Amino acid sequence: MAVFMVVLGVLLVLCICSALLRWNEVRYRKKGLPPGTMGWPVFGETTEFLKQGPSFMKNQRARYGSFFKSHILGCPTIVSMEPEVNRYILMNEAKGLVPGYPQSMLDILGKCNIAAVHGSTHKYMRGALLALISPTLIREQLLPKIDEFMRTHLSNWDNQIINIQEKTKEMALLSSLKQIAGIESCSITQPFMTEFFKLVLGTLSLPIDLPGTNYRRGFQARKNILSMLSQLIEKRRASQETHQDMLGCLMRSDENRHKLTDAEIIDQIITILYSGYETVSTTTMMAIKYLHDHPRVLQELRKEHLAIRERKNPEDPIDWNDLKSLRFTRAVIFETSRLATIVNGVLRKTTQDMELNGFVIPKGWRIYVYTREINYDPFLYPEPFTFNPWRWLDKSLESQNYFFIFGGGSRQCPGKELGIAEISTFLHYFVTRYRWEEIGGDKLMKFPRVEAPNGLHIRVSSY
Ligand code: HEM
Repeated sequence: MAVFMVVLGVLLVLCICSALLRWNEVRYRKKGLPPGTMGWPVFGETTEFLKQGPSFMKNQRARYGSFFKSHILGCPTIVSMEPEVNRYILMNEAKGLVPGYPQSMLDILGKCNIAAVHGSTHKYMRGALLALISPTLIREQLLPKIDEFMRTHLSNWDNQIINIQEKTKEMALLSSLKQIAGIESCSITQPFMTEFFKLVLGTLSLPIDLPGTNYRRGFQARKNILSMLSQLIEKRRASQETHQDMLGCLMRSDENRHKLTDAEIIDQIITILYSGYETVSTTTMMAIKYLHDHPRVLQELRKEHLAIRERKNPEDPIDWNDLKSLRFTRAVIFETSRLATIVNGVLRKTTQDMELNGFVIPKGWRIYVYTREINYDPFLYPEPFTFNPWRWLDKSLESQNYFFIFGGGSRQCPGKELGIAEISTFLHYFVTRYRWEEIGGDKLMKFPRVEAPNGLHIRVSSY
């Protein structure tokens, strides 16, 4: 009898599950949609997506082609792996293909955050940002600050075991903070860093506003950051001093074409800190990992950096000409971003029903412009799983149509050259001062983000 009840129970559960799956498929069975599966009601295929990552995407592609529907991270979503379609999507925001980042990210990064604004407001905010990180400003104001920061950050590492993930995260945040708030950055470092890390976690969480959730903590961290930045702005206004840093530029509204309100200035600062944080830190960490694993590449890179030191005194900073001479370092940065796939893709959402790739995509659906697979395309990158920076010395690779490491179209990363300058300067002081070996045994995760869950530990000695 007991066995019969168990079998009956199992059958009942199977029936309910299959009815739910079927119901969810029928719900989304609209004419004109691409093929694909929608998984469970509410949860969709999020678990499969997060757990199996790239292999889930590959399996779906094998079954439905490179343009399919799914339901991930709480939304009906089209996944596009078609390079030409991806290019079209990135180039055509004006046709109703706007950024589609999760609600928690938009809530915590603010209403004026660049990912939250479209059309003319986006143009305006982007213009204001570009004015802060132009090549002239990188050369004259930002690079000296970056150099000074990296020199100090990378001092006294010899004979130590370093968690390079932690150090590169600190580097990415604090180097930006120095560029933003010059001299005051030191006095706010500690409280700012604590709040910023909570803010980042909040943006990657479900938007559940309950005590103890990462979302609530992230939102509180945003409030604390707002208060710190507002105080800084007030203090500067009261002192009437001029400051040669990003905040100084943003506040000098009289000579500034892009006059922003205080709320916009603060969201712009959060945008800069947030956008450059994980991208720069993870690329740097992975570059160090690949250099460790490929001694010949390390030798070539070190040669380039030692050549710079040879023509300078020990205290001379890296300048613009040095930066421009670092061709192999630039190649190492691109090859690291490609092979590690630091950015898997970007999210868009439709503002109206629209035809795309021969299908009809309903209004409000997400589109995951999944660019990961392009990084391993053997036609673009022969022997795609080999770490080979030399391939990037052919400049045309950087300007090919499907180079999406920094996005594309009207949202293409405005911080590309700044990010490269930061990573290059970090690598400069790292490889000219130290040699290192991995302690070993640290786990590296590749998806949904590249990270070492328990840190990446290296033993450092002087060079
Ligand atoms: C290796 C470093 C970096 C990588 C790989 C990277 C990658 C990207 C990508 C793929 C996008 C496109 C996002 C989209 O289309 O939705 C983007 C946008 C953006 N990035 Fe970067 N980024 C890097 C460094 C930086 C830095 C240092 C900054 C600091 C200013 C920055 C600021 C931005 C901003 C503000 C946007 C949004 C632009 C817009 O919406 O108009 N990035 N980045």
